[in-house]
Amino acid sequence: MAESQNSGAFVEFERVQKSYDGETLVVKDLNLSLPKGEFLTMLGPSGSGKTTCLMMLAGFETATHGDIRLDGVSINNIPPHKRGIGMVFQNYALFPHMTVAENLSFPLEVRRMGKAEREAKVKRALDMVQMGAFGGRRPSQLSGGQQQRIALARALVFEAELVLMDEPLGALDKQLREHMQFEIKRIADNLGITVVYVTHDQTEALTMSDRVAVFNDGRIQQLAPPDKLYEEPENSFVAQFIGENNTLEGVVKEIKGGTALVQLDGGGLIDCKPVNVTEAGQRTRVSIRPERVEYNKDRMRPGAHTLKAEVMEFIYMGDIFRTRLKVAGNEDFVIKTRNAPDQVRLQPGTQIEIGWLPEDCRALDAV
Ligand SMILES: Nc1ncnc2c1ncn2[C@@H]1O[C@H](COP(=O)(O)OP(=O)(O)O)[C@@H](O)[C@H]1O
Ligand SMILES: [Mg+2]
Repeated sequence: MAESQNSGAFVEFERVQKSYDGETLVVKDLNLSLPKGEFLTMLGPSGSGKTTCLMMLAGFETATHGDIRLDGVSINNIPPHKRGIGMVFQNYALFPHMTVAENLSFPLEVRRMGKAEREAKVKRALDMVQMGAFGGRRPSQLSGGQQQRIALARALVFEAELVLMDEPLGALDKQLREHMQFEIKRIADNLGITVVYVTHDQTEALTMSDRVAVFNDGRIQQLAPPDKLYEEPENSFVAQFIGENNTLEGVVKEIKGGTALVQLDGGGLIDCKPVNVTEAGQRTRVSIRPERVEYNKDRMRPGAHTLKAEVMEFIYMGDIFRTRLKVAGNEDFVIKTRNAPDQVRLQPGTQIEIGWLPEDCRALDAV
């Protein structure tokens, strides 16, 4: 066994690479470290390498290069059942011929635990997910949400400090999925367990996580708490992948006093925050959230650059208004406004001026 590195992190990936065929790397250079008790989500499109990372952590796949450590100890050579990790998958994989209690008890039996101890652990795990009354039922006699709770209880029955979940709510309908998101988060917080959670659903990631690692093409594009990820995306991929976003392409004219002046391809000058542009002449894709666009003249910052816009479509959504504009040649520019009593409902065909605070508009890499 490798010696303890003792960096204080509970789970660590250091320069991890993975290739299945000896040619293409599906995980390219993964560096990630999380403290005990954190709820970390790996979020990214299908094929970006999330499941592969989870499988390496669980021990079902080996890393081609690099090191994975748990509590400071390299686990590359420790078999899965000795890692003390609980797992929850999308297909719950409960045994249909066993009762709920037997499903939970079985892995403990395999480990030769005594009957009384098993029963106590099963009861405790079922109580944690509020399924204490369902021990005698078979999986087929439970709803999808209840089965998922049992799968969660089975991951908790070992009292593992680390639980891995791979798209565990993917098979549930929207309402139940949202309910279970809060429930899993609450249970994880109450027990103080560390969770590495995988999803391709950005809302799920934002709602549940302490931090989110955004994956694309085998790399972490950004690792940050939800609010930072949404408000301060570091590149165009993250800006596009997380939440709704407007983009306008252009060229940097100058960078001065922390502000970039961008000449848009579709006409017009705008002020932005230079995020990954450094000098005049660079192409950029600027990114602005729909709720940060201002069209009320009284609320516009004096001296700010503004753009002309034409209202294309107005959609009443109850709590908010969603208005689609044509801006600098882009007909899919969306703004969102809260449905307040004094809020204007913009009519299609109206010409308006829009603007924003430079810090809300980010000049990112052109892709
Ligand atoms: N067992 C495997 N053998 C070969 N290639 C695989 C295997 N598992 C996954 N891959 C490939 O690795 C890449 C990453 O897959 P995966 O980790 O499952 O991504 P994600 O979970 O983000 O959808 C994909 O291109 C996928 O086809
Ligand atoms: Mg996957």
